[in-house]
Amino acid sequence: MADPLRLGIFASGHGSNLQAVFDAMDREGLPVRVEVVISNNSRAHALQRARARGIPAMHVSSVTQPDPADRSRRILHLLEKHRVEAVVLAGYMKRIPANVLERYRDRILNVHPALLPLFGGPGMYGLRVHQAVWSAGVRISGATVHLVEEEYDSGSILAQVSVPLSGRETPQEIAAKVLPLEHRLLPRVLRSLAEGRLQCQDGRWLIEPSDDSES
Ligand code: GRF
Repeated sequence: MADPLRLGIFASGHGSNLQAVFDAMDREGLPVRVEVVISNNSRAHALQRARARGIPAMHVSSVTQPDPADRSRRILHLLEKHRVEAVVLAGYMKRIPANVLERYRDRILNVHPALLPLFGGPGMYGLRVHQAVWSAGVRISGATVHLVEEEYDSGSILAQVSVPLSGRETPQEIAAKVLPLEHRLLPRVLRSLAEGRLQCQDGRWLIEPSDDSES
């Protein structure tokens, strides 16, 4: 059995996606270890969730490091100090610094609460995403896990899961339909990454089916 994949997780808020990773570790043997949780919000519930499990939970923001270069260095230092192998953005509202993007290229995952490339990009986070879906009157939404690159929500899509919409839902009800999908999708993609089943073929990232073909 290979060693669990060492993760660094960034979260800005409630941390339900972080909790979904913890739950998958506890209940399904997800082969990962959360080595450090970093937040730009000192009051993020995500930090409390990490502390409850004895995981280093660090507040890094313009309050702790006013200078952006110091912040970038601090973040990269924390990831390397904890020997992080892959990074997960679980509801993180800040841009990932260029030094971290470079060091962890093709190893930074983000979960987005819509079917990218639609309803993504700068300013598209939280309820705003579902308001845009509602305004567009589309009859489907869902969750996306993708690799992170310089531009918001721009990297290779790794996996998506959808949910039909009746057209009668409020944005809040759309959010409530999508969030549970995120909680299932993120651990599934992390399992693929931890098991070495994420392959890049001709510039396209593909997830190889697992032996038990729960693709
Ligand atoms: C999720 O909807 C995620 O897709 C988005 O921000 C939200 C974070 O929720 N990026 P939580 O903090 O994980 O509960």
